Amino acid sequence: MDNLSEKISDLRRSWGSRVLILAHHYQTDAVLQHADAIGDSLELARRAASETKAERIAFCGVRFMAETADILTAPQQRVYVPDTEALCPMAAMADAAEAGIAWKTVTRYGGGPDAWRPIVYVNSTAEVKAFCGHHGGWACTSGNATAAFRHALDDGRRILFLPDEHLGVNTARTLGIPDNQQAIYDPALDNGGLSPQTLDTARVVVWKGYCHVHTAFMAEQIAAVRKRYAGVHVIVHPECPTNVVALSDESGSTARIIEVVRNAPPDSIIAIGTEARLVRRLAREQQGQRTIIPLQDSICPNMSRNTESKLATLLDLWPESQCVNVHESLREPARLALERMLAV
Ligand code: 13P
Ligand code: SF4
Repeated sequence: MDNLSEKISDLRRSWGSRVLILAHHYQTDAVLQHADAIGDSLELARRAASETKAERIAFCGVRFMAETADILTAPQQRVYVPDTEALCPMAAMADAAEAGIAWKTVTRYGGGPDAWRPIVYVNSTAEVKAFCGHHGGWACTSGNATAAFRHALDDGRRILFLPDEHLGVNTARTLGIPDNQQAIYDPALDNGGLSPQTLDTARVVVWKGYCHVHTAFMAEQIAAVRKRYAGVHVIVHPECPTNVVALSDESGSTARIIEVVRNAPPDSIIAIGTEARLVRRLAREQQGQRTIIPLQDSICPNMSRNTESKLATLLDLWPESQCVNVHESLREPARLALERMLAV
């Protein structure tokens, strides 16, 4: 054990169960070795919601994940981040004012507000989650977007989904919604760039946001691995563009990707389209059992901001500036959207 690891282990021992370290699959191995729980966004939200003992949670991920943990834990439990600049750019692609304009725009059509349901991807600000919660909406992760969409559609609702275009369209397609009943809302344009006829017929309207880590995956990369490796199984994250998902054998959250790899027959060859650190870790873990190939190396620089050294400093000093405090006025409506998600 090196000095840093020892320091963290000592600090952990002194805090005991009063401190919990949560970490997302895209964190480095150096950070992950210290985590009490590692998960996708859904698992980490569930873990935070069920945590009763810890007075402090050190959240190694990006800000929206830590905000979600703060919203789902009791007010006296405090959530901290190793680096306050670990932000998800996709979450910044929609703010509450823009969401309000979009909601007003779409609900002028197709039967009014009662005919629609906002669904907010957890990769969003607390403000946007609060907006959705306030309007009867749900949150979802990549692990349960299909269930959230299905629930709304079974209720006879049309959906305004934000902020990821690709997850929205991929999910609508999974549920068999024809492309002519989907529309892409561009917040930079009047009426989202949509005509009244389009809004009248759309059952799913998705916000034009994206993840730059996952839009780096391309159809040609899938064609290349299929040519090179006979029988390769291709799995990608649903934040990938729709043509990439369409050419893959399946898509799923980070937890689902791990599950597919670990349950694949021995000697399988699996090509993966998601963040490189997770893919590299799976490749190492599976050495000698299964072959894991990255469709390409795509790193999330925001996740990279959390380092072992910053985690050590956090556990030592707990600077107030690194405490995530979702504003009181947003907590309750945002919690509503998240609890509707967790209840499914
Ligand atoms: P998961 O919920 O699948 O872990 O994804 C989170 C994320 O940010 C993917 O880019
Ligand atoms: Fe955000 Fe993409 Fe990084 Fe996930 S991989 S945290 S969506 S920038």
